Amino acid sequence: MPEYELLSDYPLLAHNTFGFDVRARLALRLTEEAQIAALAHDKRLKDRARLILGGGSNVVLTKDFDGVALLMELRGRHVIDQDGEAVYVEAAGGENWHEFVAWSLSQGFPGLENLALIPGTVGAAPIQNIGAYGLEMGERFERLRAIELSTGETREFDRNACAFGYRDSYFKREGRGRFVIVSVTFRLPKKWTPRAEYADIARVLERGASDNPQAIFNAVVAVRQAKLPDWRVLGNAGSFFKNPVISAAEFDALKAREPELVSYKQPDGQFKLAAGWLIDQCGWKGRSIGAAAVHDRQALVLVNRGGASGAQIIELADAVKRDIHARFGVELEAEPVCL
Ligand code: EPU
Repeated sequence: MPEYELLSDYPLLAHNTFGFDVRARLALRLTEEAQIAALAHDKRLKDRARLILGGGSNVVLTKDFDGVALLMELRGRHVIDQDGEAVYVEAAGGENWHEFVAWSLSQGFPGLENLALIPGTVGAAPIQNIGAYGLEMGERFERLRAIELSTGETREFDRNACAFGYRDSYFKREGRGRFVIVSVTFRLPKKWTPRAEYADIARVLERGASDNPQAIFNAVVAVRQAKLPDWRVLGNAGSFFKNPVISAAEFDALKAREPELVSYKQPDGQFKLAAGWLIDQCGWKGRSIGAAAVHDRQALVLVNRGGASGAQIIELADAVKRDIHARFGVELEAEPVCL
């Protein structure tokens, strides 16, 4: 059996980007795949709940965790293959996402630059199909390898099996909590085409620079730094809510009442609403309950101003949801997993 040290009463403060001061009854630092496969047969862990933590950037820990926290520290990134059309790069689940994006660009393989500076790990990226500035990870995804916690067996998932949607995948639904994603392979097309139409990006991109992936990377970093708080300074988990999607009929009725409504028509005819705008309109931007606050530069982000608990963030989120529902008749859904 591979070695690992079982840590007890382990502080999770440094393992969640909201900066909640909670503890796990047990914790394990996982640096090898064999350790993950062995978990299923470790009698000391039998019947204990498991919490997989990568960067901890998409989780709200409302209380101490009475189980075993699996701290993902698997490292490694390589070019594994290429054909006439694309380069295939693989990274271990514990690799930092942003560093991986920067590395792939520095190797001469663009394609992920719109997703620069998203917090978290490579292994967490497919779970909620991270996306930003006109690109979703699923569009560059080839396959992943995951270990099933209950059996220790390795399984491969292709794009279909992952069932990617908007901030959604198989791993948020039927597969929730069942797998540790140990590596992800991306397909980066050799014929690179820029995605620089997103208004914020187009605005900061130097004229004529849209055919330069490094310039797009820099623009994305600049826009994120201007709007989104750095979790090292102000705890947060990125957008706290998903942008709600409503039917064309609901949209027409709402738009008639709220002509300024910010929306994006979807390929299936539905409409995605800018939740940040809805929250802003209800006067929540910059408001707080205790140290739990709505960010003053992006109303979709909830922040911990220092010492807030997960329960206070949930209380704030519920108050925001109630107001949005009362005024717009729209239900907001939290993006992070709340525990
Ligand atoms: N808006 C406001 N007030 C605000 C915030 C937004 O009026 O306080 C309005 C503006 O009209 C703005 C529009 O909402 O033009 C959209 O805002 P923004 O461009 O900042 O994007 P978003 O829809 O709020 C989404 C993602 C972000 C991603 C950006 C850029 C979700 C839940 N969020 O935010 O992802 O970075 O687009 O692509 O889809 C994340 O998931 O953690 C995240 C940060």
